[in-house]
Amino acid sequence: MSNPSLLILAGDGIGAEVMTEVRKVIDWVGTNKGLTFDVSEDLVGGAAYDAHGTPLHDDTMAKAQEVDAVLLGAVGGPAYDDLDFSVKPERGLLRLRKEMDLFANLRPAQCFDALADFSSLKRDIVSGLDIMIVRELTSGSYFGEPRGIHIEDNQRVGINTQRYTEAEIDRVARSAFELARRRGNKVCSMEKANVMESGILWRDVVTELHAADYADVELSHMYADNGAMQLVRAPKQFDVILTDNLFGDILSDCAAMLTGSLGMLPSASLGAPMANGRPKALYEPVHGSAPDIAGQGKANPSACILSFAMALRYSFDQGDLATQLEAAVEKVLADGTRTGDLMQASDGTPATTTEMGDAVIAELAAF
Ligand code: IPM
Ligand code: MG
Repeated sequence: MSNPSLLILAGDGIGAEVMTEVRKVIDWVGTNKGLTFDVSEDLVGGAAYDAHGTPLHDDTMAKAQEVDAVLLGAVGGPAYDDLDFSVKPERGLLRLRKEMDLFANLRPAQCFDALADFSSLKRDIVSGLDIMIVRELTSGSYFGEPRGIHIEDNQRVGINTQRYTEAEIDRVARSAFELARRRGNKVCSMEKANVMESGILWRDVVTELHAADYADVELSHMYADNGAMQLVRAPKQFDVILTDNLFGDILSDCAAMLTGSLGMLPSASLGAPMANGRPKALYEPVHGSAPDIAGQGKANPSACILSFAMALRYSFDQGDLATQLEAAVEKVLADGTRTGDLMQASDGTPATTTEMGDAVIAELAAF
């Protein structure tokens, strides 16, 4: 049997630095666990624009369709702010999501005990937090037509369309229910059924699916604005949160801060199973390219390393190894090796990105 394949798209800003640490983990797994990956690398985002004039070359898109999993770093940066919308770095990422049809975006927000004091909320509200946001990723207002900016009555009008089909809602809701069964068995679905028809349909489809196939899972519904409020009021009431593309974008950033730092949050974007049974998959940290600290060795590689742990779990059926890797990251943080985002000014010298990655490897080796 051939080795499983990975395509690494480090992208822009801190993407390359954090991905270097993931490479160490990939190599460690190959040497010590007999799980060797065929790794290729390519460009995405601003880096691809600089090389090819497009944020995602067709050849790269084709490669992404063929590999077992894509690992992405981050895209974007101030150098690309004035580019035409159609070639902005973000378009590369959105094209990957859309063409690979990665409809289920899993964003776990876990608060490691060692970091509970870094949350902007009080320790007792966040410690032990373990929630999973399932965000629809290929439809809704990110992709709905009509869209654009045009002239009406001598003024510009900006248009985006929130559009969901039953099938799109059904398939992502199934992912959420399946995940819930393996966790706390609760799903809270969030939309704005009080003002949006797409929200009414969302609630209906989720309710019907629940009754038909997932009656054993506890289901509740919440308006997304209330959901945002509840996330900062009492986040531990949630297990799995199911929501659409735009609400999921916002709610997941909100959930990220509960955990102490945006530098901690991984994500998995999953599609339908491929011929080999593995889902189409892309793994990326929730954080962005952080241009202000790029190239300085300050970035926290945890979110990117934890995204690889998700790849081990969801693409390569290596749940135990994934749990080990997560425990290694947690141990390193608990022992005090931390990048600047996880320190107070009085805490002394922060660890570099490299030191943090090395500490995770050392921890893995010690298991
Ligand atoms: C995210 C990001 C992206 C999004 C951007 C970079 C296009 O914010 O993954 O949450 O809006 O989906
Ligand atoms: Mg976002």
